[in-house]
Amino acid sequence: MRSVGGALRRGGLTPRPGWPTRTGGVLLAAVLALGLAAPASADAPVPDDRQQESSDPVRPAADPVFTVPLDRLGGKNRYETSVAVSSAQFASADTVYLARSDVFADAIAAGSLRDGPVLLVPRCDGLPHVIADEIDRLDPAEVVALGGEKSICGATLQTAAKGREAVRLGGADRFETATLIAQRSFPDGSDTVYLAEQQESIDAVAGGTLTDGPILLVRNGEDSAPAVTVEAVQALDPDKVIALGGKLVVTTPALAHAAGEGRTTQRISGEDRYATSAAIAHWAFPEGSSRTYLANGRSVADSIVGGVLTRGPILLVPDNCRVLSEPVWRRLGEHPPEKVVALGGQQAVCTEQLRTGGRLSVFSGMETEDTGRLYDLVTKQRPVDPERYVPGDLVSWRGTSHQFRPETATMLQELFDDAAAAGHPGLWVNSAYRSYDEQQRTYDYWVRTVGKKRADLISAQPGHSEHQLGLAADVAGRSCSGYACFGDTPEGKWVAANAHRYGFIIRYPEGGTGVTGYDYEPWHLRYVGPRAAWMMHVRDEIYWDTYQRRAVAEAMH
Ligand code: DAL
Ligand code: ZN
Repeated sequence: MRSVGGALRRGGLTPRPGWPTRTGGVLLAAVLALGLAAPASADAPVPDDRQQESSDPVRPAADPVFTVPLDRLGGKNRYETSVAVSSAQFASADTVYLARSDVFADAIAAGSLRDGPVLLVPRCDGLPHVIADEIDRLDPAEVVALGGEKSICGATLQTAAKGREAVRLGGADRFETATLIAQRSFPDGSDTVYLAEQQESIDAVAGGTLTDGPILLVRNGEDSAPAVTVEAVQALDPDKVIALGGKLVVTTPALAHAAGEGRTTQRISGEDRYATSAAIAHWAFPEGSSRTYLANGRSVADSIVGGVLTRGPILLVPDNCRVLSEPVWRRLGEHPPEKVVALGGQQAVCTEQLRTGGRLSVFSGMETEDTGRLYDLVTKQRPVDPERYVPGDLVSWRGTSHQFRPETATMLQELFDDAAAAGHPGLWVNSAYRSYDEQQRTYDYWVRTVGKKRADLISAQPGHSEHQLGLAADVAGRSCSGYACFGDTPEGKWVAANAHRYGFIIRYPEGGTGVTGYDYEPWHLRYVGPRAAWMMHVRDEIYWDTYQRRAVAEAMH
């Protein structure tokens, strides 16, 4: 029996092609009714759904099968992203923090500041209009520069403050600035203090959504902690000091040194930055959260400004639109949020990553209610059961005589649309559902044409074809007319690299004959849902026959 929590079921009970709306309208109305009040305290942020969801072209449309709402807080550049986060979180604020937009030394630990947004500014090169406008909108009493003159020059601070109180929170170096930020955000001390390394600092900014203590810094790989950090820990007097990241960056001796006598030490880490972000998410939001934010794992810019977001953790995703890592997927699957939100623009978190995040965080209709068929392992040894099974819900493929089960058709359409958008138009379906009798004719044709031995490598016997499930598609492209050459075409390569995002696997991979019993079929896609497909893709576990049981068990967790 699978155990699926209520939250998991929320978004994906049935396929709803064209699922039109998200919850924004309702929440928008609710928030407007509250009068758009500024947060009464750091713990009562304005919900971040205030933004008009349709006004931002970078925001993706709703996914037709996986109904978790997706959103993006981002703009054309990092300034705009900082404004998007600010306007999502704050109707007004008494304080606005400024952080230098190209060097983040002084803003690494800014995540614990919750009484106002962190807006990015150039060091001394004029104030971008979007930033000036956002400060006017928020109308704060004070504007606080994070760092000294080297980070943000006096002219920038004065221009931003526009006659309001201009304050600096800047120490001699980033370690001291972190302690000043800690003092400001936790003036009465804190039970918990987090330690992160100062260099790449991605763990620190992913930890910006931790609300129960400030972040102090140690030097990457050093065995002792800087004196200012040790002193700050003493002043804050926590019970617990927690390292963020692995032992190679925040060493165990540095952790012990910072903590001093009598305090508990602990570590939150994973095998890489992505895993660490997932570990931080579990720590900060053990019961799940209404939002999960996805941010770029190579650039700290968007995560720094995202530290004020209190409704969920920041999970990191790789550069260049690459596939989400396993711990991140697990977190999304185990604690699906009501909404998955990208921080930053397309360059930071591409729409495909955001959509994949959404697809992995809710179950589709088939993943919820028809796993018996979705995960049905059909091989030479395991026939379709019953042998003359006919799916009850076949739909026509775009008005043709080809038929699929509905979810397969919808997801294949998504795949074709995205392939076209990626420069590979013209994919088409060569073969879809085949009945027992049609498979009989197909198999007999091949036996007559190439002999039984060869036929058995390229065609399933009747009752043994996945096509009978309505979950398999033979796809073809424009670049070559035959079947076999598809794998070497640009569109064939795109399909191989991306099919998993849509829940498809290349069922008969190259070199797999010993396992599958069939020749390489680059054109034959089998729908198994994004969870199982992703699992096999990310691990390179391409033989459904071998990994089906494991992939299914994990996809159903
Ligand atoms: N060509 C594949 C094996 C089928 O006939 O289902
Ligand atoms: Zn096929």
